[in-house]
Amino acid sequence: MSISPATPQAPSSKALLAVLSSTPARRRPIWMMRQAGRYLPEYRALREQAGSFLNLCYNPPLAAEVTLQPLQRFDLDAAILFADILLIPQALGVDLTFAEGEGPVLSTVTDAAGVAALKSDGAASRLSPVYETVERVAAAKADHVTLIGFCGAPWTVASYMIEGRGSNRQKARLAAIRGEDWFAHLMDIVTEASIDYLVAQLKAGAEAVQIFDSWAGDLPARQFERWSIQPIQRMVDGIRAAVPDARIIGFPKGVGSAALSFAKATNVDAVGVDSAVALDTMKDLSRHCAVQGNIDPLTLVAGGAALDEAVDDLVGALPQDRHIVNLGHGIVPETPIQHVAQFVDRVRRGDRS
Ligand code: CP3
Repeated sequence: MSISPATPQAPSSKALLAVLSSTPARRRPIWMMRQAGRYLPEYRALREQAGSFLNLCYNPPLAAEVTLQPLQRFDLDAAILFADILLIPQALGVDLTFAEGEGPVLSTVTDAAGVAALKSDGAASRLSPVYETVERVAAAKADHVTLIGFCGAPWTVASYMIEGRGSNRQKARLAAIRGEDWFAHLMDIVTEASIDYLVAQLKAGAEAVQIFDSWAGDLPARQFERWSIQPIQRMVDGIRAAVPDARIIGFPKGVGSAALSFAKATNVDAVGVDSAVALDTMKDLSRHCAVQGNIDPLTLVAGGAALDEAVDDLVGALPQDRHIVNLGHGIVPETPIQHVAQFVDRVRRGDRS
């Protein structure tokens, strides 16, 4: 019997964790933002059983089940915790409701008195049902699946707190541009609570975390550095101080090629990019860290040749060990389930054997 020389790094069975750790991946990892959601009838059924979206978020057995639903249908490499970025404002004492067909509605914070009224001490400790969901998913998922925790970035979360809803972000932008003291204080509070929140998720069994800066693209370039990059840099440092090997994905949506300076400054393990980001920028990014994205959610709705070609372009251009296949933003409720199956199959066709 001959003993073959030991390979220094055998491909890990966890493809996503391998790519985040700069080690060879068994296959190109794929998952989808908002993969647990309304396009799945089994999600709609559990949401109805829970009574509301927020009840579902705070019910660990049901939230764990919803987290795992997409993995029962599709051969994905990650489960993303079922929760919401707006649970942090709620833990800070903000009123939050999800109006049917309208999206989130929050009580607003627009001055120093509003910031002073926040319950900033121990906010993350009020989200224990979320950590229980993480524990349940970690215990139930298949080994090759990586469990991703998440939160919103300080800028995106603070914007929701200032505006009270998802439309029109002028008040938040103005406060950021002026560098108002109360705004800086609000950003500090959200940053610290978010660090605690992600550390608790990692300690409960999340293997990676994603920071969603969905509204980073609203910021002028100077403010992007100050209010997106810097707070996320602080989060990355704070998380790694508590969990040294934490794997972190940043998603600065809408910033184009500035994703490169984001990657360099924040030191995240992967940067997620939206569908408008050019392949050349993704290639540049992949030389610096892993890159995640960026199929347009409506291309997934379209399916057919448009979807196949978009997948082929992406996987043909980016190295398997440095790319995490994903959408450029969350999957939309109109998405046909068979198009998701087509998407996953098309990616698998390109895998190195
Ligand atoms: O599957 C997953 O990705 C995990 C769970 C998840 C949800 N929201 C569940 C959800 C994640 C990662 C999020 C992130 C989130 N939430 C973001 C960042 C990503 C992005 O979309 O930019 C933001 C901005 C939010 C805030 C939020 N939550 C909005 C604006 C809305 C309403 C819009 C909508 O799609 O209905 C939500 C509700 C929400 N969060 C739903 C789900 C499954 C739909 C709720 C329902 O009606 O069942």
